[in-house]
This record gives sequence, structure tokens and C-alpha cells, in this order.
Amino acid sequence: MCGIVGYLGNRNALGPVVDGLKALEYRGYDSAGIAYINGGDCRVIKKAGRVEALEKLVRKEKAVPKLALGHTRWATHGAPTTQNAHPHFNHDKTIMVVHNGIIENFQVIKDRLTELGYQFSTETDTEVIPHLIEYHYKQSGSFEAAFEKTIQELEGAFAIVAISSLAPGQLFAARLSSPLVLGVGEDEFILASDPSAIMEHTKKVIYLEDYELAIINHDSYKIRNFDRSADVKKTAEELDFDLELAQLGNFPNFMLKEIFEAPQTIKLATLGRIRPASGTVKLGGLVDVKEKLKLIERIIIVACGTSYYAGLVGEYLIEELAHIPVEVQLASEFKYRFEPFSPSTAVIAISQSGETADTIAALKKIEGRHMLRLGIVNAVGSTIARMTDAGVYCHAGPEQAVASTKAFIAQVCVLAEIGLHFGNGKMKDRKNFLRELDNLPKKAEAVLAQADKIRKIAEKYTHFQDFLYIGRRYGYPCALEGALKLKEITYIHAEGYAAGEMKHGPLAMIDKHFATFAIAADCPLIEKIYSNISEIKARGGPIVAVATEGNRQIKKMVDDVIYIPKTLEQLQPILVAIVIQLFAYYAAIKLGRNVDRPRNLAKSVTVE
Ligand code: G6P
Repeated sequence: MCGIVGYLGNRNALGPVVDGLKALEYRGYDSAGIAYINGGDCRVIKKAGRVEALEKLVRKEKAVPKLALGHTRWATHGAPTTQNAHPHFNHDKTIMVVHNGIIENFQVIKDRLTELGYQFSTETDTEVIPHLIEYHYKQSGSFEAAFEKTIQELEGAFAIVAISSLAPGQLFAARLSSPLVLGVGEDEFILASDPSAIMEHTKKVIYLEDYELAIINHDSYKIRNFDRSADVKKTAEELDFDLELAQLGNFPNFMLKEIFEAPQTIKLATLGRIRPASGTVKLGGLVDVKEKLKLIERIIIVACGTSYYAGLVGEYLIEELAHIPVEVQLASEFKYRFEPFSPSTAVIAISQSGETADTIAALKKIEGRHMLRLGIVNAVGSTIARMTDAGVYCHAGPEQAVASTKAFIAQVCVLAEIGLHFGNGKMKDRKNFLRELDNLPKKAEAVLAQADKIRKIAEKYTHFQDFLYIGRRYGYPCALEGALKLKEITYIHAEGYAAGEMKHGPLAMIDKHFATFAIAADCPLIEKIYSNISEIKARGGPIVAVATEGNRQIKKMVDDVIYIPKTLEQLQPILVAIVIQLFAYYAAIKLGRNVDRPRNLAKSVTVE
């Protein structure tokens, strides 16, 4: 969702700000803008559409400012127009503000300021901020005080950055529930929504916490807690982020690059953690809560989107490997639901970005209930990683394409490891399981080697407007995730279903215009999956299936088969995921879609 960049330093600020906006493009947006201070003047440039279009306008600027901010907007209040794009400003354009999140009490503030004669020119909630700063500045004559007073009055979720010709050498920022990171470079500071806009310049960062604001000068910074009106001491930490991994290399887009990173992803998620020879699993991130883990009798997994589907695979895995009851809940439902909890319940939040608003809210809901909060997070140092008691990082490296691919694979690997860790010997053949997990990168390579075959099959199915994905047991969450991948990036209507439910509704839709993708890898229920396939075929439905190498029977039953190498049923989701990702990817490319940035979607959903 919205991306924020701010710069104060010795260079031309327009360069790092535009580059930063490009680095944040993956989050999803529909308009962009920048503002800078040059001498005593504020200038603002905004444009609906891509950062590229904004960059063309910025390049024409003659000024060489040292202080600037920029924003990519994902519309919530007001249409995605140039006028509604950020930065927003007060009437004489002396105060420029960018904002990520929602100001819930904006209407109250707007009404109050309107009565005082302030005029508004956009439909956004953000516009109240520069006007309110101006109001307080007129009262106190201090920009710092006016900024803090304004932030204290705002309700909702926000990351805010402001600059002003009234304080021409300072950069102001504040955070509540929306991420903001301050990069501390050599003679320069860069503020951004996430480290991808910072890592090119410095690896030293400070993560702002909720209720913190930053006032940055050319050679120093001050962090304050605006709830307590008190200074906070914070020093920069080293960023664990690999720049190379975030760059495209020879791939045409991030999605394909990230799908092809599957083998490496499995290796990184298991490296140093699994020991096939001794049948042991070592999860350093859980050591501190070792004693508490022994008391856990129930697990609730909370997540959104693809992470939720990984959680569903985790439910099967943890129940089977650790014999602990697991329930998976959508974070957006969990947070509004009444249910009895006990301290013997652990909540595991799964999140690639570590910044998803609903997942954060789910964790906040159980604050103070004495329940163990664990995280399976990819983005190191993100909000969820920091707010959980303990956790296991995915180590998948930065994921840039909006549709999650390698993160799902890493999450499933980590869930398997957590299952074994919790199981503590309950699974009979741990060594064999770990050997299989250790061998999985090679099997993932074998699936990727079939990319061209998968492309040809996918292209045959792009004229369908409806798709059903079916599976059983471990194949069921894969069906849900397969349908999600297809709708996200091709915009083809797709539904995931438990194959056993076919007769309870979906069968009514099947005809020659309604295609099915069957997850039919070898499992104890394969015969039942064959029956489901036959029922679909009998009604004229075209079928593509993913099956285990060596399965000849299925060839006769379906129109197209994609084979995956033989592995344990519990680990099949990892190989099946690569197939469904490539299938959706190639279908989307054939349809001319922007696979990295599908319409209306954001990578990091930081508002409810
Ligand atoms: C968005 C992304 C999805 C992701 C979901 C949850 O919808 O587009 O790819 O699965 O958010 O995000 P998280 O970062 O919490 O895993």
C-alpha cells in the first residue's frame, strides 16, 4: 500500500526520493507525488499513474534541493486522481505532508478547521494534517511543537512525514500502526515505509515504534514518544537485507524471479535448522520460550491472503507431526470474534511483510492475555517480528511481486519445522521426513525445469472465464492458494474447493466452459480424487491436473497433466505451489497482465 520516502542530506534530494518511490512501487499504488524545499520555497509535483510519469516531470526541475519527500498512494479516501495524490499542503503551500494509513477522526478535525475559515481542496483524510499543523504553528510559533500537537490529535493508523519552508532544514515523521524506518547514512537521512527504499544508501536503520515521532536535522535526530511527550533514546541497528536479492537480474519481472528462487528459498528456510542424520530440528528463535512451549495445548494461526493458506497447510502439518490441535483463522475475522482463550493457547501470526494491519490487530487483541505470541515472518525487523514473544524467520529474502510465491514456500517449510519442534519425537520417522525436506530443493529444480511445458498448458486455458481448483487433505489448501494466484494476476474468476465438497454445490457449475485444476498428487485419498475427476469429466468439464511422476492412470482421465517428483504427502504443497504459481504466471503473461503489480492490489496491506 502507500509508500513514503523522505530525504535530508547533502545530495540532490530528488534522486533518492524518486529512486525510493521506485523501490516501493511493488507495494501497489495508483498515483505518486513529491515535494521539496529549496531556499525558502516549497514545491510540489504530483501525478496519477506510475512513478515513471512523475519522474519525467521531476527531471525537468532545475532546483537542487537537500530536503524532499515523496509518496505513492493506494487510494482509500477519494479517487486515484492527481489532485488526491500526496503530498497534501496548507493554503499557502508552506507545509507538505505525506501519509500512509487512515485518519479516523479527520471529519471532526475538518469541520472544526472549516469553521475557523480553513479551506480544503481534496477528498482525502490526509489534507487535514497540514492545515492542523498550520493552526498549531500559528498558536505556538514553533514548528516542532505544532507537529507534535497535531500528531497527538490524530486517531487511526498512520505513518506521516512532513517538511515545511517554516522549518527549512528539518524532516518530521511520526508513526502509529503503519511502518516507518529511518536510515542513518553518511551525512544524510532517509525515511521510508520499508527498508527497500533505504538499503541502497545505508544499512543503518532505526525502526520507529508506535507513538514515536522523529525530528531530523542535518547532523542529528531526535525521537520522541508523542503519547508521553517524552524523548526516547534510540540507536541505529544493522539492516539484514540483501540488495542483490531485491534486484531483477535476467528475469523479466519479479514474480518469475521469485518463483525460480524456490530451491534457494527451501535451502534458506531449512539451513542450520534441520539435521537429517540425527532427526533433530533446531529453531534458535524459539529457544527463549522453550519452557512455555511445553505447556501449549492448542494453537491458533492467524494470517491473511497467501500466508493464511500456508497456515492451513500448517494446520495439517502441526496436527500430524506434533499432535496439537490447530485452528487457522483469518486475521480480519479473529480480531472481531469472541472466543474463550486460555494461557495454554499459542497464537502464531504468519506474515511475509510483517506489516499487515489485520494480522497486527489480531496480535494486539490478545495483548495482556498471557498467551504466547509467535511469528513466522519474512521481513526482518518488521512490526510483527518485533511485537511477538518469539518466532522463526522465513529467510526468503525480499519478495517484491504483489502475489506471494516464494514466501508461501518458506512459510510451509517453517511450519513443518515448527511441527517437528513441537512434536518433540511424536512423529515416528523424523529422519526420513528431514531427509526428504533436505532433498526438496533438487525436486523443486525438477519442477522448475518443466516451466516451458507448464507455460504451454497454461496458455491453452486462458480463454476460460471460470476455474475451479480442487484438492483433498494437503492438496486442499493448495487448491485455495492456486485459485488465489489465478485470480490475483490473471483476473480470471477462480474458486478453491475441497474436492469432497463437489457434490454439495460446485458440480452444478461444471460444463465445457468451466475448467478445473485438480491437485491429484499421490496420497491415501487418490482414488477419491479420481472419482471427483470422473464426475467433472462426465459433465464435459476440461481438467488440468498436477500428479506424482509415474502416475499413468491420470493421463487417461484428464486433458493435461503436470508431474511433480515423488515426495512425502506432507511436503507436496511445496512442489505443488511451484506448479500453480507458474500456471497462473504464464496465463497472466499470455493475457498481457502486469504480473508484478496487478490492478487494485497492494503488496503490503497496512490498513484494514
Ligand atoms: C496482500 C498480498 C498477498 C499476501 C497478503 C498477506 O494481500 O498481496 O500476497 O499474502 O497481503 O500479507 P503478509 O505480508 O501478511 O503475508
